[in-house]
Amino acid sequence: MTDTVLVLNGPNLNLLGTREPEIYGSDTLDDIAGMLEDRARELGLEIDLRQSNHEGHLCDWLHEAQAIGAKAVLLNAGALTHTSLALYDAIKSIRTPVIEVHLSNPLAREEFRHQSFVGRAARGTISGFGALSYMLALEAAARF
Ligand code: DQA
Repeated sequence: MTDTVLVLNGPNLNLLGTREPEIYGSDTLDDIAGMLEDRARELGLEIDLRQSNHEGHLCDWLHEAQAIGAKAVLLNAGALTHTSLALYDAIKSIRTPVIEVHLSNPLAREEFRHQSFVGRAARGTISGFGALSYMLALEAAARF
């Protein structure tokens, strides 16, 4: 196993900072990457943060996580969380632990966000704490 934690982000998360800041906060994905990298250094871990608006890229990166022996994956799949059987299967297909992450709390939002295919396959879920959700997920990953 390597010390790398992959932080995978799905559709529209490239727009963090300007996208519905009342829901998702004002931190950009680069801000979150910086915070994660600072804490990862203290924990002796490496962060590899990626974002794609395409489902297949996320599947490929989940497979890659296993191939490189990543310690864990933090996955905020955005709206694909609620629709993607392909992500469910990809998480089930690898032994690398995957932590589902959300900035908002989908269960406190629209009904269509209450279903999570990612959550059904993930080791656990952290949601509702804004950028802090990623930090809390990193703390969990460090203990794997
Ligand atoms: C999100 C929640 C999803 O419902 C939404 O589609 C997103 C962001 C979050 O981080 O709160 O794109 O994953």
